[in-house]
Amino acid sequence: MKTLKIGICGVGNVGGAVLDTLNKNPEIIQSQGGVHLEVVLVGARKGKAAVENKQLNVVEDLKEVAASNEIDVLVELIGGCDLAKELVETAIKNGKHVVTANKALIASHGDELFKLAKEKNVQIGFEASVAGGTPVIKALREGLVANKVQWFAGILNGTTNFILSEMSDKNTNFDDALKQAQDLGLAEADPTMDIDGTDAAQKASILAALAFKVPFDFKSVSYGGIDQVDPEDLKYAAELGYAIKHIAYGSLVDEEVSVSAYPTLVSKELLLSQVGQQMNALDICCEDMGSTVYYGPGAGPKPTASAVIADLVDIANGGWPSQDSAKKVNKITKKTASFPRYLRLNVKNEPGAIAKISSIFANEDISIEALIQHEARKLPEDLQDTVPVVIISGSVSEEIISKLITNLESMKEIDTKVRQFRIHNAV
Ligand SMILES: NC(=O)c1ccc[n+]([C@@H]2O[C@H](COP(=O)([O-])OP(=O)(O)OC[C@H]3O[C@@H](n4cnc5c(N)ncnc54)[C@H](OP(=O)(O)O)[C@@H]3O)[C@@H](O)[C@H]2O)c1
Repeated sequence: MKTLKIGICGVGNVGGAVLDTLNKNPEIIQSQGGVHLEVVLVGARKGKAAVENKQLNVVEDLKEVAASNEIDVLVELIGGCDLAKELVETAIKNGKHVVTANKALIASHGDELFKLAKEKNVQIGFEASVAGGTPVIKALREGLVANKVQWFAGILNGTTNFILSEMSDKNTNFDDALKQAQDLGLAEADPTMDIDGTDAAQKASILAALAFKVPFDFKSVSYGGIDQVDPEDLKYAAELGYAIKHIAYGSLVDEEVSVSAYPTLVSKELLLSQVGQQMNALDICCEDMGSTVYYGPGAGPKPTASAVIADLVDIANGGWPSQDSAKKVNKITKKTASFPRYLRLNVKNEPGAIAKISSIFANEDISIEALIQHEARKLPEDLQDTVPVVIISGSVSEEIISKLITNLESMKEIDTKVRQFRIHNAV
């Protein structure tokens, strides 16, 4: 049986779980993967104290691991972009394969790293960078290789899905739901990149590179966070037959690729709407075949370690076709695809206001598919003369919806900002 010699940089949550699983399941990995995975060198800043298994060869200088001639593969599990990039480049230049769980690194520097890897004839595995233990990268680059992907829509951030689930299922407010996520170890002490959508946008850019052959180009992804979601929106969405989820979305329409990550209303008829708590799911729709949906744990040390080890086994067995940027044919455009929209407006309780709103929609040639206006009820003092009106529109591009909102907000009968979310109901 072949042996793959591994150097690991970073023994935190994921690095520790990789060592645990390799220690616990060697026979399973050998019988199912046909390879013996041998850890020959570990880089841990705190040295041996960070590594329980004292049999391992542990060094404190991570660069020593990356430059080692003893290893076949460097496993980078420190996170961040600066040192991680340096370690990965060093290993590749030295003719070593790389496995990483680092979405920030791949989303921002994927192209240069894959170019270098191609030149050096080595592989980069990054299954763990998107959806943790759920093998969505494998699905895209292997299982669906015969298909043209039309779009993908995914819940790729467990922290925000947990918060939205708590808010909609238990009426918990945002701050309490976030605190609960932190207490359960589902959210970082600083959860900014989860809450503002950065994490999901990085993952979306990685999926887009595989699905649509665009460069790894996180900067071209448009995104927003769940801090825009108000409990009132969750209630109206439910009344209209939708759940609000944070959806990473990519599509190829008329050879134009758009990639985004926003809070989005998802039809309750779709599987994605049922994905609760910290779970992840990805719906990939291909021409001729339609949708396939992948569901599972999107983070956590053990699921992420499972993906890292799967990459190691694949590398031992020959790896994958190159992700080199030379083959990239499209670019992500800033123009975004069209979606039906949810709009919530506070409208002054005056005759003719709804007719005026309808005419603004008609002027932009946008249909109104549903409209809810409940009887006036007790509202905060500054909104007492208004009634909330919720409208579901037909499909509208980003450019036209911005124009519509500007026109609505200029009406004297509407005195607060218009709230707007996309709707995903495609199958
Ligand atoms: N945790 C998850 O569920 C999950 C899921 C998917 C992907 N990932 C990705 O996996 C990677 C690792 O995540 P993690 O959760 O295992 O992080 P973590 O628990 O913070 O572990 C990172 C490890 O790297 C070490 N490290 C970081 N910067 C270093 C530096 N400059 N020099 C030396 N050592 C350094 C840390 O050492 P110290 O202990 O000395 O600080 C720590 O041992 C990240 O890219 C993350 O995005 C994580």
